[in-house]
Amino acid sequence: MKTVVVTTAGGPDVLELVDRPDPVPGSGEVVVRMAAANVNPTDLAARQGMVARGLTIDGPPYVLGWDLAGEVVGVGGGVDGLDVGDRVVGMIPWYAAGGRYGAYAELVLVQADWLVDLPSGLDPVAAATIPLNALTAQQALDKLEMPAGASLLVTGACSAVGSFAVQLAVAHGVRVTGIAGTDDEEWVASLGVERVLPRDTDLAGVGTFKFVLDAVPLGAPVFGAVADGGAIAATRPVDADPGRGITQHRVLIRADREALRELVGRVASGSLRTRVAQTVPLSQAPEAHRLSERRGRQGKIVLVPG
Ligand SMILES: NC(=O)c1ccc[n+]([C@@H]2O[C@H](COP(=O)([O-])OP(=O)(O)OC[C@H]3O[C@@H](n4cnc5c(N)ncnc54)[C@H](OP(=O)(O)O)[C@@H]3O)[C@@H](O)[C@H]2O)c1
Repeated sequence: MKTVVVTTAGGPDVLELVDRPDPVPGSGEVVVRMAAANVNPTDLAARQGMVARGLTIDGPPYVLGWDLAGEVVGVGGGVDGLDVGDRVVGMIPWYAAGGRYGAYAELVLVQADWLVDLPSGLDPVAAATIPLNALTAQQALDKLEMPAGASLLVTGACSAVGSFAVQLAVAHGVRVTGIAGTDDEEWVASLGVERVLPRDTDLAGVGTFKFVLDAVPLGAPVFGAVADGGAIAATRPVDADPGRGITQHRVLIRADREALRELVGRVASGSLRTRVAQTVPLSQAPEAHRLSERRGRQGKIVLVPG
């Protein structure tokens, strides 16, 4: 089967399409025929040899890709509730897999409990944008523990994490101000925010918020927009200390099957929206990474078979 490997860290062209033996599912594992594999910023970083602080992987070579949707084609021992032919969506907690396998492959080895059913009306391409990003959004909001009526500033409100977070917060009765990406104000406005700010807004002049979700993350520049005693949830470690009694939370995704099932259901029912900018065949993974690194892409780049 075809898979995309990184044998030397570097630019998009280090992504190499190779033939590997079909994976064989072990105990608790299944093999999924990939219908869609989302390209995430963490893949772009890992391709360049940058791994999240405090975590390690095996290799090179390593295979990228957290998010996938597809069809189960092989089931290992001890797997309950999944059968050959089931449509599924899920997330490979990539560091837990040590980078040995990932979603950028025709056939993907996955632990069964990282997957949930893909509802019949939900397109696998859209579904593949959900797991890593919607779970991170949910877990970031959970850290902030906001009451209904609270005011929240979301940086990168146009990103996948930011867009899910805006919608989940609005649904919880939170009043959201969102910072858009390049020429992307209309999308952010459509998510139910009270106010949209353009990408390069000087955050020192936007007032203060008790809560900030720094999805980009911008780091220290957001401090000026946080009220004394407020709280920030950031998607990467932030070293600077904001002072003034402000709490900073670092969000680090953790797999949560029940929460994922719920989020996938919300997208399937139309109460949560996601965006795909473009699909790209697996064989053109370098192009998918080039597109993902571009400003103003307005949605995810998703790999599909081919
Ligand atoms: N800690 C975790 O567990 C975890 C999990 C998932 C994601 N993340 C992180 O969360 C971040 C967002 O990921 P994602 O997948 O949601 O991103 P994404 O969908 O790929 O979108 C990135 C967005 O951020 C915007 N952006 C980039 N730099 C910006 C800046 N300086 N100011 C304003 N907007 C900016 C881009 O807008 P333009 O088009 O204008 O460039 C783009 O819309 C990434 O840093 C990712 O690594 C962390």
